[in-house]
Amino acid sequence: MSYFLRKTQAAIDVNALVDNYHYISTLAPKSNTIAVVKADGYGHDATIVAKALSQFVDIFAVGFIDEALTLRHDGIKNTILILEGPFQQSDFTIASENDFILMLHSDYQIDWLMTLDKPFDKDIWLKVDTGMNRLGFSIQRIREVIAQLAGTPQQFVLCSHFSSSEQVNSTKPLEQLTLLNDLVKEFTCKFSMANSAGIFNFPASHGDYTRLGLALYGISPTENNALTARLKPVMTLQANIIALHQVEMGETVGYGDTWCAERTSQIATVAIGYADGYPRNAKSGTPVYIRGQIAPMAGRVSMDMITIDVTDIEGVVIGDTVELWGKNINIDCVASNSDTINYELLTRVSKRVPKVALVKS
Ligand SMILES: Cc1ncc(COP(=O)(O)O)c(C=O)c1O
Repeated sequence: MSYFLRKTQAAIDVNALVDNYHYISTLAPKSNTIAVVKADGYGHDATIVAKALSQFVDIFAVGFIDEALTLRHDGIKNTILILEGPFQQSDFTIASENDFILMLHSDYQIDWLMTLDKPFDKDIWLKVDTGMNRLGFSIQRIREVIAQLAGTPQQFVLCSHFSSSEQVNSTKPLEQLTLLNDLVKEFTCKFSMANSAGIFNFPASHGDYTRLGLALYGISPTENNALTARLKPVMTLQANIIALHQVEMGETVGYGDTWCAERTSQIATVAIGYADGYPRNAKSGTPVYIRGQIAPMAGRVSMDMITIDVTDIEGVVIGDTVELWGKNINIDCVASNSDTINYELLTRVSKRVPKVALVKS
């Protein structure tokens, strides 16, 4: 048998990424679609994502300044919105020098802004809490903050975040939007409300800027919305078979002896485990894709390996590629088998898994 390398990787389909961006932008044609690339581009490698989109996107968004500086270091020149704003007063200087937009959400950040030695010359975003109760000024406090900023040169954009825009039948998203809209009318300013599910489910929330995260990566942010059918999964997580075993009826597989063969079975060991970001909680039966067919996982996930039952699949050999999620295995299926959500699975793909950009010309 010939020697082969560990081929565990997250293949990043750059064409799918660009197609998703263009498609979703057409759903909110009057808005500027901000591409959210925080958490290393939702685990896809923020630099790969930003490079692929830089010619189409005006603004990228990240969680905090270090993430933005990494993009600058890697040559990304677009404006970057810092969703959690400054963590210290000197972040205002970094923002000025690097074309970062700061989101201000708390009084301590306003104090920093008002006491800078050199006046801050960039526009800012102000976060308003309309019901998520996580980040942002209260409706009452935002009016005072805006009054406080009256003498400063900045223009501001009002921003808020939905707590449940994936719930099409909930009244909460529109209640939140009404609260923000009232402020926008009062202050005649620009606004940003919609995340991915907001873009698909609540067109009235599109506003001046949408903040597109999950759907950019080709994953539906909401159920029962036909518009999501055109999304193309960007990441395919895959690994190779490194061993094959026959186990007899009554024998167990893996730690804890949780899976027991009910017939003579062919078990393939695949080079991916929880240290790579495949969820430790994935239950036996979680589907994987091999040789054009679905096979179930058998037994517990180990640190570096999983075991799958390939008894019903013809011709499996060492070296075969196994897809864990991507074009053929819906990540939501893995998430529901692991008591988690797609966002967590994507962002937990670990450093030791190479992210490989695939571009078709
Ligand atoms: C403030 C903010 N805006 C936008 C997004 C993007 O959301 P989504 O990935 O649901 O599109 C997030 C994601 O967590 C966020 O925290």
